[in-house]
Amino acid sequence: MKHWQLQREDSGLVWATLDKQDAAANALSAEVLGEFKEILDQLDVYPPKALIIRSGKAAGFIAGADIEEFTQLDTADKGRALVERGWTLFNRLAAVNYPTLAIIRGHCLGGGLELALACRYLLAVDEPGTKMGLPEVMLGIFPGWGGMLRLPQRVGPAVALDMMLTGKTIDAKRAKRLGLADEAVPPRVMEQAARQLVLSGQARRKLPLLQRLLNGPFKAVVASGARKQVARKARPEHYPAPYAIIDIWAKHNGNALAAPELIDGIINSSTARNLVRVFFLQERLKAFGKESSFKAERVHVIGAGVMGGDIAAWCALRGMTVTLQDQSLERMSPALQRAGKLFDHRLRDPLLARAAFDRLIPDVNGDGVAHADVVIEAIFEDVAAKQALFKALEPRMKPGAILATNTSSLKLEDLRTVLQKPERLVGIHFFNPVAMMPLVEVVEAKGADPAVVQAACAFVRQIDKLPLPVKSEPGFLVNAVLAPYMLGAMAAVDAGISPETIDEAMLAFGMPMGPIELIDTVGLDIALAAGKQLASGAEPPRCLLERVKQGQLGKKTGQGFYTWADGKPGKAGAGAVPSGLALQLVTPLINRVEQLVAAGVVADADLADAGVIFGTGFAPFTGGPIHFRNKQH
Ligand code: NAI
Repeated sequence: MKHWQLQREDSGLVWATLDKQDAAANALSAEVLGEFKEILDQLDVYPPKALIIRSGKAAGFIAGADIEEFTQLDTADKGRALVERGWTLFNRLAAVNYPTLAIIRGHCLGGGLELALACRYLLAVDEPGTKMGLPEVMLGIFPGWGGMLRLPQRVGPAVALDMMLTGKTIDAKRAKRLGLADEAVPPRVMEQAARQLVLSGQARRKLPLLQRLLNGPFKAVVASGARKQVARKARPEHYPAPYAIIDIWAKHNGNALAAPELIDGIINSSTARNLVRVFFLQERLKAFGKESSFKAERVHVIGAGVMGGDIAAWCALRGMTVTLQDQSLERMSPALQRAGKLFDHRLRDPLLARAAFDRLIPDVNGDGVAHADVVIEAIFEDVAAKQALFKALEPRMKPGAILATNTSSLKLEDLRTVLQKPERLVGIHFFNPVAMMPLVEVVEAKGADPAVVQAACAFVRQIDKLPLPVKSEPGFLVNAVLAPYMLGAMAAVDAGISPETIDEAMLAFGMPMGPIELIDTVGLDIALAAGKQLASGAEPPRCLLERVKQGQLGKKTGQGFYTWADGKPGKAGAGAVPSGLALQLVTPLINRVEQLVAAGVVADADLADAGVIFGTGFAPFTGGPIHFRNKQH
């Protein structure tokens, strides 16, 4: 066999190790599954005392099905055959009469978890990389290889639906607590523990009675609640998969083959195709981080405001030692408070949160500069202030350290004139709110050292963000495309269309937030300044000027286009959305994306689509602005 190794111990215990040929991670391709079927055939003839399935890869157990194969499903028959292949095979695994166990170390996702769920026992290895989940929904599809049947049986329908509908993953300890894993053990004892457990004869933990009822006679109630929750986040015409997951679980006991029309509708939907496209675009962004071996341990951030404070906290969350500098401790205190909340919320463990907090060190004197591998400047948007800072910083920095600015609107070419080595300055442009936004633009000024740009991309990956290399032009990619979109929305207000109607038009199009609410959130003063810089001399919209004049700057002042209370805009009913309004509103954005690709600000159309999706939330199911336009024609 190419991908699996079988070892039979004298005791009769068999180890099946998956080590997919020529791949960094295990994926369940047709070939891998075919070989696994051969293994089950062999074991039918010579039944083992027990079977343990494990991975031969350092990266993890199994990352999921082979996503490349989805792109070849051009007919309904092929889609059904793909579902059938894994469903039948894993049912067979679940029915063998010898005990089976999967050792889960590292990632165990999608089809990988479905394979593990078909084993009698699931042993999770408790280490930081271990995570289990069924993220199919993020690709616009469903866990059709038994996940919709077996996960609810193991952990109850509420937890199972939550995992399947959001794609979120859980670690080893949580898996143990929820009953997904039978045991969670440290790596050094995993093989011994697996041997003991698989031969123990121990019955599986039984689901509590209430959970069994919810997974049986009360399914319809649970399903109706789940549908309502999904409806708050995703419209069925944009994202049919979560609705299909609920239906297949509730009406067909998790068996998609019982609802072939759902399989056809989902697998061949443009949503699934586009989300798979977005997945590969994301992989392309990640690959920018692999072009350099640069590795950071210490980060120094200057400016503990909205951005710098959150950038520093994020880096500490991701394991860096971070020094944070501002003019005084008082100025840093709001940032430190926000950091504490972020750590509590994300790490959910007081010891880990404490450790992260210990990694974030207030540093008024800037002592951290001399030790930092990356220095990020996030002070006021002012050329002279930044220049003065860079001039003082450069002689104190380690020679190979990255010097980065988070500027949104200043030219790197102007900022770096004071440096001995101007080619070392790079832009690392985060978006607000830092913790929420996956994209970071890595800005290459003219004549910059390419090695520095690559190192900056590697750093961005290290802190688990997606780097997009862009050229140093006003607004880079993301702000440059948002400006005409926001201006267009405000022009529509000037033309008498209500903000509510405009926002509703774009929500129905699939944006995460309407453009007018976005302007209120960003701040009308910021929108005005950005508009001036990016609108090539056009008159600012009347509705914007009037409000700014009255000090109505949006969410931060409580009044903008909407009146804000408790962080939420008060919206009146949207009324009927005129046909064609969404297209009219999105057109300036798409036009600008095309111009920026033509001007080489971003390397190609696919990367531009990726940047706009991950930097603005542009409706992912469309596949991105340019892809959307191409499909329209
Ligand atoms: P902010 O005004 O919230 O924070 C700036 C901080 O820098 C203040 O705490 C100030 O005390 C400190 N500071 C100023 N000069 C300093 C110096 N010489 N030494 C040490 N600390 C100093 O500003 P914000 O919004 O965080 O912006 C910072 C940078 O990030 C700007 O370049 C801005 O263009 C950029 N940016 C802002 C975004 C936003 O949404 N606010 C988004 C992306 C980038």
